[in-house]
This record gives sequence, structure tokens and C-alpha cells, in this order.
Amino acid sequence: MKCKTHTFVGVFEWGTALLGQLKWLHKVSRITRRLYPGLGTMLSAAAAERNKDPILSVLRDIVNTERPLQALEISSGTGQHVIHFAQALRNITWQPSEYDRQSLASIEAYRAHYQLHNVKPAIHLDASQPHQYWGGIQPESLDLVLNINMIHISPLSCTEVRLLNYFSIMCP
Ligand SMILES: C[S@@+](CC[C@H](N)C(=O)[O-])C[C@H]1O[C@@H](n2cnc3c(N)ncnc32)[C@H](O)[C@@H]1O
Repeated sequence: MKCKTHTFVGVFEWGTALLGQLKWLHKVSRITRRLYPGLGTMLSAAAAERNKDPILSVLRDIVNTERPLQALEISSGTGQHVIHFAQALRNITWQPSEYDRQSLASIEAYRAHYQLHNVKPAIHLDASQPHQYWGGIQPESLDLVLNINMIHISPLSCTEVRLLNYFSIMCP
């Protein structure tokens, strides 16, 4: 009986210690991810995987591949698109952006993994805001603005404001 009690107390103490360590690890991981967003998870969206090549082929048709260009991607999502396009179109410097913090971490994880020189650190960008709040994007500084699959999931104000912003941030 005495032995069973000891075993029970031992298991209980071991369980409590393990729980304490797990909580501590969780805390460290949260702080690390906040300090180094590049350590986030590379999320994967099936739709992005399916449509990245057809979209790339449209880009190849309409974009000059000879001279250096500056591109902004609005609502980059997981980061799959921007990495795919940046690998294929090396003359373009890509600025990914996102509204959602978890997606921002995913984009940074892709950047850290692929280490492409033509992909800038992702910026937080809310398309419903005027371009003055778009993470330092300068007027008349862009040759290309890409926005895939966002209109249908965001309020109409996003589309209206974004169209107005385009006129300001695109190169004349
Ligand atoms: C359907 S996902 C598309 C993501 C990516 N472009 C793709 O095609 O895989 C829509 C994205 O729009 C983003 N989004 C929603 N509201 C937004 C806003 N106001 N400004 C910028 N992005 C927004 C979401 O965070 C989400 O990543």
C-alpha cells in the first residue's frame, strides 16, 4: 500500500514537472517566433499550388523580363506565390505584404528557406487603408502591383481604396 502511494506521488510529481517544462518550452517558442518571424511555419495552400504556374505564365506574357522592375504583392497569403514568381522572374524585386500576422510569419519562413535576393522582407499592409499607411511604399515607385484572390473575401472598401492607391504608387 505504502509502495503504491509512493508510485502515485512519483508519477504525479513527474507529470507536474513535465507539464511545467512544456509550458516553458511553449513560452520560449512564442517569444522566439515574435523576435524571429522567419522561424514561423511555411504554410501551404492547395489553391496557390494549383494556380501559381498559370498565373506565372500570364505574368511572363505581360511583364518586361529584360529590365529591373519593382513589384508589390498585396495579400501575399502563405508566400508560395511570391517565392515562385521571384524564382522565375529574377529581374523583378518583389515586396510581399499581408494583413494577417500568421501569414506574415509564413512568408518570412519561405524567405528564410529560399534566401532569394529579389524578395524583400514582408510588410504589414491593410489594403483598405490609404497608401501612406502601406509600410513605407513610396509614391510612383512601382512597376507592378499583384493582388491575387483577395477581392472576394474582403469588404468593397478594400477594392475601392486599393484602386485609388494604385494611381499614386505606380510609376507614371
Ligand atoms: C484567399 S487568401 C489569398 C492569398 C494569396 N494571395 C493566394 O492567392 O494564395 C486572401 C488573403 O487576403 C488577405 N486579406 C484580407 N483582408 C485584407 C486586407 N484588408 N488587406 C490586405 N490583405 C487582406 C488575407 O489575409 C488572405 O491572406
